[in-house]
Amino acid sequence: FGVLKWLWRLTYLGTFAGLGYVGYGIYISRNPEDQAEPDPNKKTLVVLGTGWGSVSLLKKLDTENYNVVVISPRNYFLFTPLLPSCTTGTIEHRSIMEPVRNFLRHKKASVKFYEAEATKIDAAKKVVYINDESEVKGDSSATEVPFDMLVVGVGAENATFGIKGVTEHSCFLKEVNDAQRIRKRIMDCCETATFKDQPPEEIKRLLHMVVVGGGPTGVEFAGELQDFFESDLRKWIPDIADNFKVTLVEALPTVLPMFSKQLIDYTEKTFDEEKIEIRTKTMVKNVTDKYIEAEHADASGKKVLEQIPYGLLVWATGNALRPVVRDLMAQIPAQKDSRRGLAVNEYMVVKGTENIWAVGDCAVANYAPTAQVASQEGAFLARLFNQMAKTEVLEQELVQLSEEQSKKTGEERNSVFAEIKDVQKRLRRVKQMGPFEYSHQGSLAYIGSEKAVADISVWTGNLASGGTLTYLFWRSAYLSMCFSTRNRILVLLDWIKSSMFGRDVSRE
Ligand code: FAD
Ligand code: NAI
Repeated sequence: FGVLKWLWRLTYLGTFAGLGYVGYGIYISRNPEDQAEPDPNKKTLVVLGTGWGSVSLLKKLDTENYNVVVISPRNYFLFTPLLPSCTTGTIEHRSIMEPVRNFLRHKKASVKFYEAEATKIDAAKKVVYINDESEVKGDSSATEVPFDMLVVGVGAENATFGIKGVTEHSCFLKEVNDAQRIRKRIMDCCETATFKDQPPEEIKRLLHMVVVGGGPTGVEFAGELQDFFESDLRKWIPDIADNFKVTLVEALPTVLPMFSKQLIDYTEKTFDEEKIEIRTKTMVKNVTDKYIEAEHADASGKKVLEQIPYGLLVWATGNALRPVVRDLMAQIPAQKDSRRGLAVNEYMVVKGTENIWAVGDCAVANYAPTAQVASQEGAFLARLFNQMAKTEVLEQELVQLSEEQSKKTGEERNSVFAEIKDVQKRLRRVKQMGPFEYSHQGSLAYIGSEKAVADISVWTGNLASGGTLTYLFWRSAYLSMCFSTRNRILVLLDWIKSSMFGRDVSRE
């Protein structure tokens, strides 16, 4: 009985201490300490973008070493892996957004943030031209920011391959407003299809949801959409049940080409069971407001152009260069052979420059354009910059000591010499930073009906798995990777909310 009493007391104390710790964490996060002011004698480090690459850099960067300026049209970080879930309301978009102001305010030295788009980088003059593209503009809405060091982390825009009608008629899936637009459009199609006296052909068209691009974005979205239909839409709007259809169009012979053959087959089989039609070897050539024109081979192998009517068209065919990146590349002769982005060396330095680095989707370093790569590159740059600052301090110390030594004689001279040796040793250690090495943790994708596929790197090699257990792994992996505890709690609550009450079918 005595032992039980003590156990009870310990549990009680443990809970109390745990709650205190969480409470203190929340208090600190809401009451940041005063920050050191930027030191004009330090170098100005300008960071473009607030995505995976830039934010991962900023998270680990010691801001006391530089005057840090962040420029991005988005004053938040977006956890893109869960963006497809926002298109159907499984997760609310604000749950995967983290304001950059909050986390920058917790850095040791203050960081300037300008909500603006970099319109041009002048590599020779070391200046970035920026524009305030938001709705509210003040007297100053276009200016320039000089830099000593620049990190380009502006990501990529949506590839359209110049196909007519894509930009005008389709929805993309890259940003928060894309997801909101898709969510509205799904409901608009459903409500319009049930409008009085709607002709049967028109109902079919309106309820045909076409996704172009069988990469992970297209596959994850198609899976989420079919889930939405199966668990919510068909219950609340039974009239649409016979006509709602999701089709995935892909130019290559398979979907998810970056996954192993076994997982591609598993995904195709799962889509078949979910009644999502996959049209591989079908290349979209033209888009109008009511149908797409796609080319495929008929039974005799002859190429035919088919019109596929749609109500919602989601275009997910990968990445293209942003104009500001294309313009920068045009200024640097060493970039003339690069097509997919800024060619960088193994230290992420933009080839042909000395003080410009690039991370993420806008950089070409022979890795896939993924969040995993971008965040590792950002973290590497933070370590590199922290180390460069330390090196500079030690080098200055060395110059001072050398001057001091030249003025001394005898025993005093020997003692300064010993100090120089020590600083040189520290300098060698600090300078020993190797080049960037990417460590691939694996690929994960949700494929609908509570199933996911995963190609994960384990000690013994690669592990390919698909199914409901993988789905639970997918959920826990992404939950743990969310930016903050706040995001984690909000995402968890959204999952609980949508499984208890279903997804919201109102059209805002
Ligand atoms: P981004 O994260 O796109 O950030 C670019 C930043 O630059 C943004 O803040 C933007 O506002 C800003 N910017 C744009 N133009 C300018 C300008 N002119 N001046 C200044 N700033 C500018 N990858 C994975 O590894 N796993 C996943 O599960 C996964 N899921 C995804 C799901 C979806 C729906 C999408 C679209 C992508 C997904 N990705 C995933 C890919 C991943 O999101 C990208 O590879 C990653 O975002 C690249 O990071 P980045 O920092 O280069 O660019
Ligand atoms: P993607 O480049 O991976 O796939 C685009 C697909 O569209 C390609 O398979 C291409 O053949 C097809 N396509 C292009 N033009 C076409 C046309 N005219 N008609 C029909 N099909 C056409 O693009 P996605 O999915 O947007 O991904 C971009 C990057 O983000 C990738 O690197 C991807 O790995 C990453 N990502 C990773 C995710 C994950 O790991 N779960 C989720 C989403 C994106």
